[in-house]
This record gives sequence, structure tokens and C-alpha cells, in this order.
Amino acid sequence: MTTSEFRAGEEFAAALDASDPLAHFRDRFHIPKTKAGTDCIYLCGHSLGLQPKTARAYLEQELRDWAELGVEGHFQAKNPWMPYHRLLTQQTADVVGAQPAEVVGMNSLTVNLHLMMVSFYRPTTERHKILVEGGAFPSDQYAVKSQILFHGFDPASSLLELTPREGESCLRDEDIESLIEREGKSIALILIGGVNYVTGQVFDMAGITQAGHRKGCLVGFDLAHAAGNVPLQLHDWGPDFAVWCNYKYLNGGPGCVGGCFVHERHARAWELPRFAGWWGHDEGTRFQMGPDFHPIEGAEGWQLSNPPILALAAMRASLEIFAEAGLERVHAKGTSLTAYMQFLLDQQGSPKFSVITPREETRRGAQLSLRLLRGGRKLCDRLLRGGRKLCDRLAAAGVIGDWREPDTFRVAAVPLYNSYQDVYRFVQRFAALT
Ligand SMILES: Cc1ncc(COP(=O)(O)O)c(C=O)c1O
Repeated sequence: MTTSEFRAGEEFAAALDASDPLAHFRDRFHIPKTKAGTDCIYLCGHSLGLQPKTARAYLEQELRDWAELGVEGHFQAKNPWMPYHRLLTQQTADVVGAQPAEVVGMNSLTVNLHLMMVSFYRPTTERHKILVEGGAFPSDQYAVKSQILFHGFDPASSLLELTPREGESCLRDEDIESLIEREGKSIALILIGGVNYVTGQVFDMAGITQAGHRKGCLVGFDLAHAAGNVPLQLHDWGPDFAVWCNYKYLNGGPGCVGGCFVHERHARAWELPRFAGWWGHDEGTRFQMGPDFHPIEGAEGWQLSNPPILALAAMRASLEIFAEAGLERVHAKGTSLTAYMQFLLDQQGSPKFSVITPREETRRGAQLSLRLLRGGRKLCDRLLRGGRKLCDRLAAAGVIGDWREPDTFRVAAVPLYNSYQDVYRFVQRFAALT
């Protein structure tokens, strides 16, 4: 549905829900409750996705097999633990547009980012910089700076940050490309979040990869806010690596294992330095317990430890819902829900906030970031100082979003469990409280 077809009023939202082919998937998730026992308007899937109702059964299966089989569960569990992670491989590959050998679920995002930088950040005196988006997620900033220092370089001269133009919130694609063009020869690694965590801006990952590779840079993406949210074609776009977490749009549960993509062109790059662990060792000879490391081909060769089966079990429950709903339908509904939220927010025509997320469909996913405007009315200044309080008041009104200092309220309508009525009610409550 296009913006010009949207109408005001809750009946319209109800009609959209009634004709939504994915509406019934909401029942597959536990929706947090208000104190009064009604469903919250949960718009925080960009932070922590909701629990699939089937997650419990998937976990119980593994708990039962552990209780009944002990160590034998590695081979005799209903889903033997030894190859358990492969139960997720195809669906993970589908979510990020990769070949199965290019993906693996392991560790957590920041750990995977370090592992990838060990292999793909190899600075020289001529080419030592890492290009990141200014104000990247703090963990990425710490990881990147610590890698620069680890190699004996100085973040003051080796960290290059992309910043929006004066008075703008988002980066322009052409500015990213021209910086790569200008500085490319000194850049060892480009590391960008596929979707910026503050603004919700989706970057042109194909364009950045091409621009970087033209200049001889390696390219990686942090897809924490992109995986399960926007369509991804990592294999075709061709970045060298990507990392993501599975607990946001992918509903894998708090602290769930992270995801990692290594492009096929590096599958047999044995010469790359890497930090090794026994789970990355060739499976045929792993249990000979020899002293020399022979990595598995592809992304699995970067594994360190045997994976946490209970976490993977919850993840399976979620990925199966994605597979059942179909990624295209999930993305189509996501696009429509976000456009509807933007339409309703525009209708408010309020001077107290502005949506800083790009308006173009291809430059945003589920998240909209609402910036409370400084200056102007006193009320607004009060709101700004009390941004967290605004969040608390919305939570008391049953709306769960989150606040990012200094002035941004983030919300995401997630296609698998949010409804058009959620969006409608959120905008009404937000407008009433700002
Ligand atoms: C963009 C981004 N990068 C990195 C992280 C850190 O993830 P983890 O704690 O799984 O390492 C997060 C966590 O929310 C994030 O949003």
C-alpha cells in the first residue's frame, strides 16, 4: 500500500490489520503485558525482539536430551548437538542473502567483529585507516580503536569518521563514496553499520563495497540493525565480512549467539591471520586432537568453541517463523507499517519533534527515530531534559520504545508481531504526551 492510500482513523488501521496476510504471526509471539494485563505496544524490536512461543519447546527438547543422555546427546539427541548449528545455516544464509558456507552462528557480535578484524584489518604504513560512520555504536568504536592500538597505530590518525553535513542527521551516499574515493589509498578497512543504530538510515551496502574495493580497501558491515530487518544480498554485494546479533529483529533471545559472514572469496584463504579454536578445525580430524590447526573451509573455519546449544535452540524457533512467513512478505509488510507510521506522524504536524530517519523506502527499515526539537517552546525544552521521563511516561501508557541520548526516541514496528493498530495507538499516545 502506498502513502497516498493511507487514511486517518483507527478503523482504517483495523481494516489494514484485517487484510494483512501476516497478521496471524503475532499470535506466535509472547507480547509483554501492561500492569492492567493488556498487550503492550511493543515497538522495541530494534533492541530486543520478542519471544517466539515455540522457543520453550525447542529449549525443553534440548534440556530433556541433556537430562536423559548426558554427553551422548552430542550424537544421540533428537537433534544431535555435534552438528546442531547446521540446523540454522540455510535459514541464516537466506536472511542475509549468502551462500550457506559463508555464514556461521557463533560467539556474540563484538567478539565476531574482533575475530574478523584480526583477519581483515592488516594495516601497513601506507594503508592503516579504518573508515567508520561517526557516532558508530560504542562497542564498534571501542573494538576498532583497540584494534588500531593493537597494531601500533594511533586512532587520532588511523580512525576516519564519516559525519553528516552541517544541519543534517543522515549521511549522503555520495559523500560516503567521495570520501572513499579521496582517502581510499590510506584506508585498510571500511566498517559501516548496515543500518545506523541512532537514525535508522540504511546504507547503500553494494555501493560502499564497490567503492571500497575499487580503492583496494577491505569492507565489513555491522548488521546488528539490518539482519532480519531489511533485504540483504551479501554474497552478491560482495563485502569481505559482516557480523550481526540475533537478538534484535531475529528474536533469538537476550545475549543470543551472533552471526558472521565471510565472503566465499576468502573461504580457502589459509594465509589470512586468524585467531583459532578447536571448533574451527577441520571436522574430519578435529578429534584426533593434533597440535596443528587446519581450518574448515568457509565461515565455519573462524569458529572458536563448541556452540551454546540452548541459545541455538531458541534461535531455531525464530528462524523457522521467518522461513514460514517468507522474507519477501516480511519485508513488504515492514515497508508498509513504517510508511503508515510516518504518515500518521506527518499528520501530527508537530513542531516538537521531527523524524530523522530517511523518508525513502530503500533508505530505512522498521526503525523510525524521532528527534525532540530543541528551542522553541518551553514544553519542548522540558521534554528534552526529561527524555527518559518521556520514555517512562510512554511505558506507563503501555508503549515500549527507547531513548538515545541526547534527544532521540527510537521505535520500530516489526512486521512479524506488530499490527497497524499498534502503530496507530502509539502515534496517538506519543502525540498526547509530547
Ligand atoms: C550496532 C551495534 N553494534 C554492536 C552491538 C553490540 O552487540 P553485542 O553486545 O552482541 O556484542 C550492538 C548492540 O546492541 C549494536 O546495536
